[in-house]
Amino acid sequence: MSAAPQNPHAALLSCDNIQKSFGARTLFSALDLQVNHGQSLAILGESGTGKSTLLHILAGLEAPDSGEIRLSNINPWQIRQAERNRLRRQQVGLVFQAFYLLPHLTARQNIALPWLLDGRTPDNKRVDDLLERIDLSHRADAKPAELSGGEQQRVAIARALALNPGLVLADEPTGNLDPRHAEQVLDLLITQCTQEGNALVMVTHSQRAAARLDRQLWLEEGKLTDRALA
Ligand SMILES: Nc1ncnc2c1ncn2[C@@H]1O[C@H](COP(=O)(O)OP(=O)(O)O)[C@@H](O)[C@H]1O
Ligand SMILES: [Mg+2]
Repeated sequence: MSAAPQNPHAALLSCDNIQKSFGARTLFSALDLQVNHGQSLAILGESGTGKSTLLHILAGLEAPDSGEIRLSNINPWQIRQAERNRLRRQQVGLVFQAFYLLPHLTARQNIALPWLLDGRTPDNKRVDDLLERIDLSHRADAKPAELSGGEQQRVAIARALALNPGLVLADEPTGNLDPRHAEQVLDLLITQCTQEGNALVMVTHSQRAAARLDRQLWLEEGKLTDRALA
């Protein structure tokens, strides 16, 4: 295999020399990362090393103190907030450990939400298709409290995929699930991202889950290091 450097213009997402501190605590001192279209990667590391903060930076939710992030070759911190929000809505799907579904909306309405937030009419055919793909067509009108944790996370995944973002960011997506449901949710996330050609960046504590992705990166001492799993 050639170790030729990747073409930076081909990257969906690139981070160059990112620094980030909270008060006296430096999380990242010189962090670089490149994610290509359709690529999947796992981020591993101990609690408190800054994995969630890193995902927020990748999503354009949190600004780095210095260094540059580019999403589809756009620096989200060089455009106005409304444009940055639009960029994120259209290009990034987010999945969190705590699901974050809107409790008063049904599964179907939660999946349709990204269109509404983007000022568009929901594509009902796509919503139905997503419900089918997460195997919840029969629960489309249920509210989150009426669904199991695994089912709620499946809805959250469908919502993340709704507008076909190029990039899906998942922060310990199976952290609140028992092993069997965790496996189902992980399968779904990986399969759907692969089918839709989305890149996937997943923070996980599970080496087993990480092993299923293309690359494994460890966040240690403010830097990301490629390290294959044993
Ligand atoms: N908004 C914030 N303000 C101050 N400190 C923060 C903020 N967000 C995260 N931190 C601190 O940064 C460190 C890393 O947090 P986090 O990114 O959540 O780590 P991880 O996800 O790896 O557990 C923690 O010590 C946390 O207290
Ligand atoms: Mg975290």
